[in-house]
Amino acid sequence: MLGYFMKMNISIVGAGYVGLVTGACFAKLGHKVTCVDINREKAQKINEGIPPIFEQDLEELLSTYKQNITATTDYNTAITNSDITFICVGTPTLKNGNIDLSFLKDSTISIAKILKEKNKWHLVVIKSTVLPGTTQNVVLPLLEKHSGKKVGIDIGLGMNPEFLKEGVAIKDFLESDRIVIGYYDEKSLNTLKELYKNFNCPILETTLSAAEMIKYASNAFLATKISFINEIGNMCKKLGIDTYAVAEGMGLDKRIGRAFLDSGIGWGGSCFPKDVDALIAWAKENNEKTRIIESTREVNQQQPLRLITILKKHIPKLQGKTIGILGLAFKPDTDDIRESRAIPIIDQLIKEGANIKAYDPEAMKNFKKLYPNINYCSSASDVLNSDAILITTKWDEFTELDYKGKIVIDGRRIETAKRAKIYEGVCW
Ligand SMILES: NC(=O)c1ccc[n+]([C@@H]2O[C@H](COP(=O)([O-])OP(=O)(O)OC[C@H]3O[C@@H](n4cnc5c(N)ncnc54)[C@H](O)[C@@H]3O)[C@@H](O)[C@H]2O)c1
Repeated sequence: MLGYFMKMNISIVGAGYVGLVTGACFAKLGHKVTCVDINREKAQKINEGIPPIFEQDLEELLSTYKQNITATTDYNTAITNSDITFICVGTPTLKNGNIDLSFLKDSTISIAKILKEKNKWHLVVIKSTVLPGTTQNVVLPLLEKHSGKKVGIDIGLGMNPEFLKEGVAIKDFLESDRIVIGYYDEKSLNTLKELYKNFNCPILETTLSAAEMIKYASNAFLATKISFINEIGNMCKKLGIDTYAVAEGMGLDKRIGRAFLDSGIGWGGSCFPKDVDALIAWAKENNEKTRIIESTREVNQQQPLRLITILKKHIPKLQGKTIGILGLAFKPDTDDIRESRAIPIIDQLIKEGANIKAYDPEAMKNFKKLYPNINYCSSASDVLNSDAILITTKWDEFTELDYKGKIVIDGRRIETAKRAKIYEGVCW
């Protein structure tokens, strides 16, 4: 990613997984970045070079490029001293499944109020995942109302969805498969093209709402791919077929590809579940059917509980038994537990009266906030001292455990666990 580029002053609103990674990567590329977050503790940590989240290489980026990145809770400093603002706040799900736009609206209003006093063109870019139409119909009017200025003239507007995966977020950001630029006006498009010009990937220029939909369609498709292989995997298990051999055979077809064909206990995280929910909720309100996407979700709700069904073949009564859980993060290399598949599994075990012993290399701190009363082990090998062990996250270190003599039910395909006395996989 070398070559001449224009150094820009960038503000990032919302310094979470996406915002902080985006900020740190732009800092690495030589831009001046100011992160704004309502969470004072987060801002303070970032300024001390301590990432408030666990993400590979983030700490190194924050310390190496500290002269290029700062954090604050003060919108005024951040917006006034930058030319571009990326909005990266959360867009979670409301109880009714609809998308919660309150963080997006609050941050847009805060930005607009500062822009009211700023006498220079400023570009606002939505990076948060939002339903098609949101940038045009929610963000644009709020920007104009609270700034008293005109979008397309005084203020630029863009939609630049983020496709990074937690755990490899920095690599994904810097070596993206594609960059999607949805734009309202030419000046916004040209500014974003300049910002991304040294990225070695295709750049797609499109409308605001197409950019928004590309993100949803991509996530819904990937979630569908996993639920699909899980359904195939459930059949394979009954037939005595190794699902992973099937995935390999399918994946060699270039039209299909091997990625996202690892059968297991399903998908979780901060994106797939809420994005699938939001699409379904939107379709319901707009009288559209989402048969495939709803089935994708249904398969995913049932898949983790299959681990318990298999466990009960070996231990029919779970009351009073100690069940070890290996992995609490929704996937390896992150501390994110949002919609982790360990959650419905632990809920069901508790309901059936089992005692839980759990371990995760990074996610125990977050999990303790949700489940303060289960037993947390100080190492993975401590978990092995249980009546049975369930593998729920594919952390590398779980491959090195001595499973000999144990009952192991594997939701994530750890080959070395096959040495257990009794071993069963969820789909194999
Ligand atoms: N996490 C991912 O892997 C991922 C990947 C691609 C896209 N996304 C999308 O990116 C968006 C952000 O996701 P995330 O995982 O980074 O969320 P997050 O919850 O980790 O971070 C959001 C941050 O915004 C801050 N915030 C909330 N309201 C604010 C306000 N008014 N002003 C300033 N800061 C505010 C919060 O304190 C928090 O630090 C979501 O729309 C998500 O769907 C996430």
